[in-house]
Amino acid sequence: MPESFERLTLLYDAASIDARVREMAEQINARYAGEPVVVVGVLKGAFIFCADLMRRLTMPLEVDFVRLASYGRSSTSGGEIKFTKDIEMPLAGKHVLIVEDIIDTGLSMDFLCKQLADRQAVSVSIAAFVDKPSRREVPVKADYVGFCIADGFIVGYGLDYAERYRELPGIYELALNSDAAGL
Ligand code: PRP
Repeated sequence: MPESFERLTLLYDAASIDARVREMAEQINARYAGEPVVVVGVLKGAFIFCADLMRRLTMPLEVDFVRLASYGRSSTSGGEIKFTKDIEMPLAGKHVLIVEDIIDTGLSMDFLCKQLADRQAVSVSIAAFVDKPSRREVPVKADYVGFCIADGFIVGYGLDYAERYRELPGIYELALNSDAAGL
């Protein structure tokens, strides 16, 4: 039985992330031109990105959070998405900016956008810190993307592996010993 290991390889350090979040915020500020926006952060992974992005936004903001869970989902196939925590404020007549840490299969964003569309928001946009378009199972397109990456397991800046590594200030690719074994 080989000794287990987890190896982290830095992809984006804190300074690169900060610079990219500033650029995203400039785009978003220009788009809304001072109009009020409701930021909807998707827990847990987006909590750090959401906090950093909001502090760069200049329009009047409200914030709320959702938490989603998928059922009957394997690592390679989708499943049914449900709220485990819904938004607690009305969205009618408001601009909504969903703030997500990563879009992978797209199932979470597809579900959330459809749910929010039923609540008479004026507009619904998506800011995703990381996009993995090669993994898509349903068509979802973010309006603002921090980093577009190929497949690979990433952690840090809110993203976890088995609830670990969320606190890391950078984004890392995680290799497990099962990768080395080709499993
Ligand atoms: C991750 C991530 C997104 C979702 C993206 O959440 O934060 O919300 O998966 O995947 P999808 O595009 O394939 O739907 P996760 O369920 O790992 O929960 P967490 O944010 O609490 O870690």
